[in-house]
Amino acid sequence: MAEVKASLISGVVLAFLSSAVLAFVEDLDDTFKDTRVNDIWLVDFYTPWCGYCKKLEPVWYEVGVELRSSGSPVRVGKMDATAYSGMASEFGVRGYPTIKLLKGDLAYNYKGPRTKDDIVEFANRVAGPAVRALPSKQMFEHMMKRHDVLFVYVGGESTLKEKYNDVASELIVYTYFFSASEEVLPESMSLPELPAVIVFKDGAYFTYDEYEDGSLSSWVNKERFQGYLQIDGFTLYELGETGKLVAIAVVDEKDPTEESGRLKALIQRVAKEYREHFNSDFQFGHMDGNDYINSLIMGEVTVPSVIILNTSNEQYFLPGEPIETMEQLVQFISSVLNGSAQAYGGDGIIQRIKRVAFDARSTIMSVFRSSPLLGCFLFGLPLGVISLMCYGICTAESDDGSDDIDALKREGLTDEEEEEEEERQRAAELEGPDDGENEEEDVGEKDPEVKKTD
Ligand SMILES: *[C@@H]1O[C@H](CO)[C@@H](O)[C@H](O)[C@H]1NC(C)=O
Ligand SMILES: *[C@@H]1O[C@H](CO)[C@@H](O)[C@H](O)[C@H]1NC(C)=O
Repeated sequence: MAEVKASLISGVVLAFLSSAVLAFVEDLDDTFKDTRVNDIWLVDFYTPWCGYCKKLEPVWYEVGVELRSSGSPVRVGKMDATAYSGMASEFGVRGYPTIKLLKGDLAYNYKGPRTKDDIVEFANRVAGPAVRALPSKQMFEHMMKRHDVLFVYVGGESTLKEKYNDVASELIVYTYFFSASEEVLPESMSLPELPAVIVFKDGAYFTYDEYEDGSLSSWVNKERFQGYLQIDGFTLYELGETGKLVAIAVVDEKDPTEESGRLKALIQRVAKEYREHFNSDFQFGHMDGNDYINSLIMGEVTVPSVIILNTSNEQYFLPGEPIETMEQLVQFISSVLNGSAQAYGGDGIIQRIKRVAFDARSTIMSVFRSSPLLGCFLFGLPLGVISLMCYGICTAESDDGSDDIDALKREGLTDEEEEEEEERQRAAELEGPDDGENEEEDVGEKDPEVKKTD
């Protein structure tokens, strides 16, 4: 009797709890367009069939719970983008899942890692004021400890301040923006003039110069990363949006040889000592392992080595000889900058065809690796059928008199086949890299971060 009662009670409690948890994330429909206006919303646009959406679902509930329990004004919702496709396209949703924070008539895309902490941090940052005040020395020091890169406006009302506010409300998707009076900053700092926009990073500070640095927003975009970073596939994708070339020491952290340590140190020194020369065009860092780079360039880089990537046109540069000194590294970077270095790769039509073949090959190889039998069935059978068909077509054609054309055709065909064979052989030599880094099912989205919606 007591047991039944207990289980009844726990059942009721559970039901209550689960309904309470569900309410942390609201299911949105067509009416959302009208009901959303007075609130800040964090919305997951999903489809029932996408795998990454399913993976996000439990995280999304945690996000809802966390934002609610921390007293955030942000309301968390999710919308089935297939059921309400009109709404979804109005918000510019293309890939799934798409995470957006909607604040008044601004929509901010979230492109970071899909973890609870990262998403909650994003929501709190973007939902709050675009520019946050640092009222005291203590507060300033506290923020200096928390942030690797800190943008601060110093001074009173000015047109620079208006610009800063505009830039902040757009680029708050990437980083925090602060304002402070001069008294709050360290006494050792000497600012040539006020008002000023300053970035604190890499143990130093740098002041925005309207005449040398171009627009404030492009300067912020270029300064929002530390001078030297540990780079992974995701960081590389983020760095791409700064328009900078990325100079990377490719090393193996599990096998830290003397040579790889030296390369890392060299790049680090160039980042710091040649900041004035290279900072506006280059981002520096190192990457652990060459798998990611290999799949990017569809080749193989040695470990350790240095590579420079142009993420905007997918070109890359390799030093003519292994880099051993600072001078060699500076030479190499300068030659990329003045256009005299040999560029490889690119996003031309041939490279794109190569990419399709490369991706197909990786997929096929990963199927074969995980299940050879399935691989044979999936790819062996159609190939067999296709070759039989080809054979049929060729022999049929040689029957009807036009021998010359036919010979040409057959020659063309063999060439292609030879090329394919070469590709396949190279594929066998290479390890087919996993495509796991690329989380989004459709990364085609090249929208500006902030989009006006109505
Ligand atoms: C990198 O790519 C962009 C876009 O195509 C191009 O304008 C730029 O000149 C390239 N940079 C170098 C150093 O090749
Ligand atoms: C480009 O830079 C390299 C390295 O500093 C230098 O050797 C080369 O002469 C330069 N080329 C041009 C065309 O300026």
